[in-house]
Amino acid sequence: MRALMRFTPLRHALLGLTAAGALGAGQVQAGEVEVLHWWTSGGEAKAVGELRDLLEAEGHQWKDFAVAGGAGDSAMTVLKSRAMSGNPPAAAQINGPEIQEWGELGLLGNLDGVAEQGDWDALLPEVVADMMRHDGHYVAVPVNVHRVNWLWANPEVLADAGVEMPTTWDEMFAAGDALREAGYVPLAHGGQPWQDATLFESVVLSQGGSDFYRRAFVDLDEQALESDTMIEALTTFKRLRELMDEGMPGRDWNLATGMVIDGDAAMQIMGDWAKGEFTAADMQAGEDYRCAPVPGTEDAFTFNIDSFAMFKLGDPEAREAQFALARLILEPEFQKTFNQLKGSIPARPDLDMSGFDDCALRSMEDFQDARDADTLVPSMAHRMAMRSDVQGAFFDIITNYFNSSDMSADQAAERLAQAASLAL
Ligand code: GAL
Repeated sequence: MRALMRFTPLRHALLGLTAAGALGAGQVQAGEVEVLHWWTSGGEAKAVGELRDLLEAEGHQWKDFAVAGGAGDSAMTVLKSRAMSGNPPAAAQINGPEIQEWGELGLLGNLDGVAEQGDWDALLPEVVADMMRHDGHYVAVPVNVHRVNWLWANPEVLADAGVEMPTTWDEMFAAGDALREAGYVPLAHGGQPWQDATLFESVVLSQGGSDFYRRAFVDLDEQALESDTMIEALTTFKRLRELMDEGMPGRDWNLATGMVIDGDAAMQIMGDWAKGEFTAADMQAGEDYRCAPVPGTEDAFTFNIDSFAMFKLGDPEAREAQFALARLILEPEFQKTFNQLKGSIPARPDLDMSGFDDCALRSMEDFQDARDADTLVPSMAHRMAMRSDVQGAFFDIITNYFNSSDMSADQAAERLAQAASLAL
């Protein structure tokens, strides 16, 4: 998946696939939609179940194509092979700039009719709508807005160790000592490349601020990538290992959240899909668990927008079902229920937020403030900031640096800059 656009044989194979004819106006038929996604944790599965139920209530069939694996790396690999064999699913969870990569292959269907009927242009913030269009046409539909720079905590564990929610890295390391002393794992983590990258991008945002973050991860500015600020961020990032446990390698993110839920660990740094796990465990925000921006990132918001891209289909009934899915995703009923279960905020900002918890309300408010203050930044770890091949190279460097002792922070910074230079 990484170098999709550069992989010429794949490109040729995929370009050979053809589009289908148009559906006659006014026809409504029941059809099947195969939906590729990676939502398999407790909270995620509950949330995606809402969409399946709504679609089935309209008489269509949902064919589940779930590929386990946080952040969708495995799902994207499977999608690539299905597309290469000329048999992509009707809908696939594809996020950020990768929508453009698939659009350029000519494989995505046109959703302009559904978009016009639902007035998506008026409904969606321009930055979101832009991501959903290829060549001026809607090819994908946004589900939600996740915030990535969150710190989650179990308040009983903090209290037992006599510490407060940390607001600086110094406080975080000091709390870590007290928590260890009291017998807890200070920071739950899963050692997988995307989780390492999720943690790292928040440290970069914290130590460099949003302009620096953008220079490094959006502009791929080599000077920023090998700067002292980046070296400092890499150093703090690695030091966070002191707060983790030995069982961390390979652990899934939801199992790390489970450690906080069970009171074995005090905190986790993770996007607000973690809130979906707290909710699925019947825990209340502000009472049973707490949320706060990652230390030093209070004024900024790292966004991660989940979306479904729709593939061109030949069968008119299947297209009808696919259009129904696209329409349902932006309807208020789905947006409200799904996002409450998933931990995210709605993709459309016009919805009444009653029923959402304090963490979601804070997310909504911080999103708007960050947009006004220009401190809204796309997640590097979650496919929002850069092309997939560059992101893959960054993941390798970040995870190798974090998990081995043979790369210094200076060397890691240099390698990030090198990877960026090859991309330009
Ligand atoms: C993110 C995705 C979220 C969440 C998470 C863990 O990339 O946007 O919806 O599911 O991965 O799987």
